[in-house]
Amino acid sequence: MVSLKGTDLISIRDFDKKTIEQILSVAKKMENKRNKALAGKILATLFFEPSTRTRLSFQSSMLRLGGQVINFGSIEQTSINKGESFTDTIKIVEKYADGIVIRHASEGTARLAAEVAGIPVINAGDGANQHPTQTLIDLYTLQKFKGNISKLNVCLTGDVKYARAMRSLLYALSMFGARVTFASPPGLEMEASAVEEVEKKFGARLTTAASLSEAIEKADVLYVCRIQAERFSDPYEAQKAQREFKLTKELVEQGKKDLIILHPLPKVNEIDPALDETPYAKYFQQAANGIPVRMAILQEILG
Ligand code: NCD
Repeated sequence: MVSLKGTDLISIRDFDKKTIEQILSVAKKMENKRNKALAGKILATLFFEPSTRTRLSFQSSMLRLGGQVINFGSIEQTSINKGESFTDTIKIVEKYADGIVIRHASEGTARLAAEVAGIPVINAGDGANQHPTQTLIDLYTLQKFKGNISKLNVCLTGDVKYARAMRSLLYALSMFGARVTFASPPGLEMEASAVEEVEKKFGARLTTAASLSEAIEKADVLYVCRIQAERFSDPYEAQKAQREFKLTKELVEQGKKDLIILHPLPKVNEIDPALDETPYAKYFQQAANGIPVRMAILQEILG
């Protein structure tokens, strides 16, 4: 077992395959369990961007491990609103907690927080860059529903460009040897540098489909992200993409019988609600997996 005590988790690149497998196997043991592994420990959750699942599942996981949680409410309620710098804020929080979970709209902020803080920092999303804990949940969900990840053809669709969950997941899927098919709307393709990185590092098996329906025919998994409107410089472009991109039941029915759909959520209108009640949709179970996986992460890092 690799000891992760005191380490930061800023990018999925921070963990090798063996470490990821270790977290996934600890997570399996955490299903429906509670313990006192983190009794007396305090986690600070600093969300500079909106969050439902990530914030609440980190809080719930900490409580299930016997620990406690503090947070600063909304940014308006903090001294950042009086002009205090980001780094001063982190220097203060590190005195009040044993670990920090942070989400921020700017790329690199979690890394900066980790450099300033003497306590472990976990990145809960920095701009369009990374969302490593979401990726661990995605891998856990894939293993649970599909078994061996290296045998899968995963189609990344929706906002592949701005969604940080996509960026982290591409790296991890490539590390695990899965086949990845891109089927993004025009203009929302994966950044070339992210593609080159996984091709060089892992010899990733990547394909770009001519259309979403072509990709669906061959896919085992459809991984969808909402159009990340808040990261577009032109709101008109975001609205256009939101209008045009939609995963319908008819499209999905062209695929394999055991095709599954994952989505980090929130979904807005990119998935036909008629799909929610079908066996294809696994995104609500995926969100539920946030608990055992984040319990495993917290116990390994803070325990
Ligand atoms: C994602 C995020 O914040 O990146 N949400 C999440 O953590 N489940 C996805 C999104 O906002 O689209």
